[in-house]
This record gives sequence, C-alpha cells and structure tokens, in this order.
Amino acid sequence: MERRIPFSGRSIDYTEEEIACVVSAMRTADPLTQGRYMREFEEKFANYQGVPSGTCFTTCNGCAALEMSAQLCRFQPGDEFVIPSHTFTASCYPFIKKGGTPVWADIDLATRVVTRESIERVLTKKTKAVVVVHLYGYVADMPAIVALCRERNLLLIEDAAQAIGSEVDGKKAGSFGDISIFSFHSHKNLTTLGEGGMIFVRDPKAAELIPMLRHNGHCAYTYPREDYWKPAMGNVDLPELDGTRLMPNNLCLGEIECALGAKMLERIDTINAEKRARAIAFIDALADCPELEFHRVDSRRHNYHLLVARVTEGPDFRDRLLRALHDEKGIQCVVQYIPLNRYDFYKKLGFAQANCPNADTFFDSMISFPFHHRLGEDDVQYMLEATRDILRRLRTAWKSAVSLSRHSKSTP
Ligand SMILES: Cc1ncc(COP(=O)(O)O)c(C=O)c1O
Repeated sequence: MERRIPFSGRSIDYTEEEIACVVSAMRTADPLTQGRYMREFEEKFANYQGVPSGTCFTTCNGCAALEMSAQLCRFQPGDEFVIPSHTFTASCYPFIKKGGTPVWADIDLATRVVTRESIERVLTKKTKAVVVVHLYGYVADMPAIVALCRERNLLLIEDAAQAIGSEVDGKKAGSFGDISIFSFHSHKNLTTLGEGGMIFVRDPKAAELIPMLRHNGHCAYTYPREDYWKPAMGNVDLPELDGTRLMPNNLCLGEIECALGAKMLERIDTINAEKRARAIAFIDALADCPELEFHRVDSRRHNYHLLVARVTEGPDFRDRLLRALHDEKGIQCVVQYIPLNRYDFYKKLGFAQANCPNADTFFDSMISFPFHHRLGEDDVQYMLEATRDILRRLRTAWKSAVSLSRHSKSTP
C-alpha cells in the first residue's frame, strides 16, 4: 500500500511571516554568520528560558553543543558520567570522546526518563557528571535531581534537545543544570532550517570561553593597539578553564538560521500547546485500548515532541501492529532509541554492560507514531481510526492464539 502518513523528517510548516523574516535576513545580514541575528537569538532565548543574559550561545547543531559541554566537564582518567541508556547516541558519545566513561542509568517505565533514584543507584566515587535527557519532550524530576547533584558535588548537564518549552514547577527544561543543550534539528518542535542548536552555561567563567571554543579560538586582543591590523586582525588564544586547556572548533550557526530561530521563539509555545492538545486527544480516544500505554501529561511538563506508547502485549504484538499499520493503512510508525549499550559502537568501546531493565522492556515493545506538527487533522483522525481498527483485529486473533497455545500446553 502507498505510504499515506510517513514518519516525516520535517516537523513544521513555516508561516509567511517566518519566511519573510528569512528572506529579509538573506538580503540584509552582513556578516552571514556571527552577527546581530545571532546576538538577538541568544538574548531572546535566554529571556525565554528565564536565565541570565550572556549565558546562551547558538551552535550549528545540538551535537556541537554537547561536544562543548563535554569539554567543559574536564574529565580525568577514570572519571564516570551517568546517562540514560535509552536516548539518542549524540547525548552520549561526545562525553566519551572527551575521556568520560559512561555508566547507564535506567528510565522509569511510565515517564521514560531517569529519576533521582535511578541515577543514585549507579553513582560511584568516580562519578563526575550526570547527563539527564528529557526524552520525547518530558522534563525529568529536575528539582530532585538538582538536589542530588548538589549533595554529591556532581556536574549536571541537561540534554533538552527534544524539550524546548517544557516546564517543571514553572521553570523551563534546560534551566536547571550547570550546562544544558537544545537542538533545532529538522524533527524538532522548533527547527532552524534543519540544523541548529544552543548551549546554556551557568558558570560565568565557562560561559566567557564559549565564543572562543565555538569559533577557532578567536578572541579580541586584551591590550590597546595602534593599528587594527597588527599584529593580526584578531587574536587566537588557548581557552583555559581553571588551569585546564580546552581545544576550539568551528561550531557556529549562520545568521539566517539565527534570524529564524529568534522569530520562531514567538510561536514555540503555540506549537507545543497544539501538539500537547492533539496528543491528549489521541491518547484519550484510545483509552479503551489496553494494549497501548501512553504517558499522558496534560501540562507544560510535556511538549509531545514525539508521541510514543508501550505495547503492553509485548514485542511480538508490537511488531504485528507496526506491520499492519504500515502494510494495510500506509502509516509509518517507528521504533526509537535502542538502549545505547546495545549498539555495536558502544559494545566495541566496552560499554555493553547495563542494568536497565525498564529501558530494555520499553524499547523492545515501544511504538512511536508519526507526530510532526504539520500533520493534518484528517491524518490524525485517520491514524486514530486505523489504530483502533488494527488493534480490534489483532486483539481477537491474539486472544485465540494465546488460548490455543495454553490449551496445547495443558494437553499432554
Ligand atoms: C535527545 C537528543 N540529544 C541530542 C541530539 C542531537 O541534536 P542535533 O541533531 O541537533 O545534533 C538529538 C537530536 O537530534 C536528540 O534527540
């Protein structure tokens, strides 16, 4: 069957105003990178987040922000960082590149994010940092996790790549940690033309280094010069944080993307609210289908970047559901976030060991519905009816298969 609802790689349609803003930036931006639109986006973002001015910095993507976060950890040999196994790979590997050893924390089966308890369980004397991922757009219990990290003197990094605008206790995801990152990738609720990111750094000394780290170590000369071209147009220096040398890169985001990002901040709360309302309606309409266990959160704590459910009948039933939705109804659901310890990459590096039964259980029986913002209301209704329809049929077939196998087991 023709694919009617793909798991689209693009989250949103831009408004005419947003398109005009891009066109205007294309006409007027000078330079085309690191100019007034970058400063505007960073200032507006800090304001949106409720964090001090001068603490948020645009990056070319979320991974670049994680690369800088990892450097700021300044791992020594043997240092560990705690991270959920159930996340996207870019949450983790930058910290390994910078010398950290990952220790996998389990998720809560209902919320699909780590908890204070699941982190505490895997802390050791070697733990230096904790990376919390607000996966699917739901903010973990940050007040409790902040308290734990303060008690144990641990660096707290928030991966809020999927959670822009989500809140707990009136505070935004990504405003709790020492460092946090955001992604404006094509899939995200706010996307700056496919790539983009932001890093928040709380420590002013570290924040001061980000422009250098982000842009080849470029910085201003610290002494007055007679000629602006001598000894060079600008200086290149070695960024140092409390005596530790850091290495720069070029991780900047262009001006057009920044202009659009600043503009889109005006609409992100509406996008999130619309996605949330749609998710709640979808979940409620399937409330009489016990095979699907959604995480229903009717508050700003969830932005429903993605709409996922655990299939309570297990992996085999899940696979039948996915296959039928795809082959018979043309709906492309997907399965996401294989626990990282199960990827070849992490196995080859020696990080295959994890005690994360919830992450394994969830991944093995999860389903992620297409849920990009630009999905039409008729598509959502179609997906709802199709899901009900397939579930009804599978349920009947499943029940008779289960009773048949019980019967054959009890018959000698
Ligand atoms: C949880 C998570 N962390 C990190 C990233 C990396 O962001 P980017 O793709 O912008 O590099 C993503 C997404 O793409 C993500 O979903």
